[in-house]
Amino acid sequence: MPMFDVYPLYDVTPVSGKGIHVYDDKGMEYLDLYGGHAVISIGHAHPNYVEAVTKQVSELGFYSNAIQNPLQQQLANKIEALSGCKDYQLFLCNSGAEANENALKLASFKTGKKRVVAFTNGFHGRTSAAVAATDNKNIIAPINAQQAVTILPLNDIQGVKTELEKGDVCALIVEFIQGVGGLDQGSKDFFEQVFALCKLNNTMFIADEVQSGYGRSGKFFAFQHYNVTPDIVSIAKGMGNGFPIGGVLIHPDIEAKYGMLGTTFGGNHLACAAGLAVLNTIEEENLMDNVNAMSDYFISKANTISEIKNIKGRGLMLGLEFDFEVGDLRKDLIYNHHIFTGGAANKKLLRILPPLNIEKQHINQFFEALETAIKKVEQTAN
Ligand SMILES: Cc1ncc(COP(=O)(O)O)c(C=O)c1O
Repeated sequence: MPMFDVYPLYDVTPVSGKGIHVYDDKGMEYLDLYGGHAVISIGHAHPNYVEAVTKQVSELGFYSNAIQNPLQQQLANKIEALSGCKDYQLFLCNSGAEANENALKLASFKTGKKRVVAFTNGFHGRTSAAVAATDNKNIIAPINAQQAVTILPLNDIQGVKTELEKGDVCALIVEFIQGVGGLDQGSKDFFEQVFALCKLNNTMFIADEVQSGYGRSGKFFAFQHYNVTPDIVSIAKGMGNGFPIGGVLIHPDIEAKYGMLGTTFGGNHLACAAGLAVLNTIEEENLMDNVNAMSDYFISKANTISEIKNIKGRGLMLGLEFDFEVGDLRKDLIYNHHIFTGGAANKKLLRILPPLNIEKQHINQFFEALETAIKKVEQTAN
């Protein structure tokens, strides 16, 4: 049976990983500045992670949400301690899309309304409401198009005001740093005014931290760079370092009812063990400090390369913008320099999403390779 062919693939077959590196089936080492799409937070095969997941699977990998699972509360407590987000409630699920789907559903349950406001170039996942709130017509099937969604440009505060004042908007969902779209951010004023408008109009303010959360922006959550308190925060990617886990942080004003949300696999024992190992490692290894130090170092190196026209993003969620499309550059980096980077909807942007424990030597290696690769791509174009 062939695989349903939806992914354009690079011809590389990683079979193992360690720290910032993965190794292919021929033993070739690759520097991972893509983190498997912002998923690898504490590095590949981190010993804490391997030990915790191995121990848990040998004891109890899974039981349903019909029994007591103290690991869930431990995970919730640890998220609260590291994020400083006091008083939220946690619902656990399996992916970013599912986190946003539940977030939007909660907003609708809470307000009794059904229209969503989202933003140009935003990406929130591929499930029903999440994909409808995503600004990409190619991935919205007719069945998803029945959702009422209004997409506005970032920083269009008048547009947000006009839409919210119509009174039918249950949720405004936003990435504080856009991922797939290409690392754009709204202004501080915009985010803070949007937050105030949501409060005034009984609209739930949803921070999609699926990609920007878990320390990647240099704070635990990217929204913490601003003076806002979201009603709902969705999380996933870095949470399990590759183990599928997602979650929704829910403000206490939203009351739980039995049966309101649910999932078979969400919050299972193995997922919680993976999630706890990630947070313990972020704490023990001061990875958020490392994110800030390595981000400054990366940006200072990027500033010395004239072909880089713009540096976007924050922390270790960065984009290098060129005045040419970067497809060939990425290929050259992979096949000739053995370095993984990411692309974006903005074709001129190279995305950098490394594990949070990256070191200066890896950044140096990247910039040496990048300079050679840029020259080669330029020569080929001329
Ligand atoms: C900001 C954001 N939200 C949601 C998602 C969807 O997450 P998943 O692919 O785990 O469903 C993504 C995935 O790239 C994302 O970047």
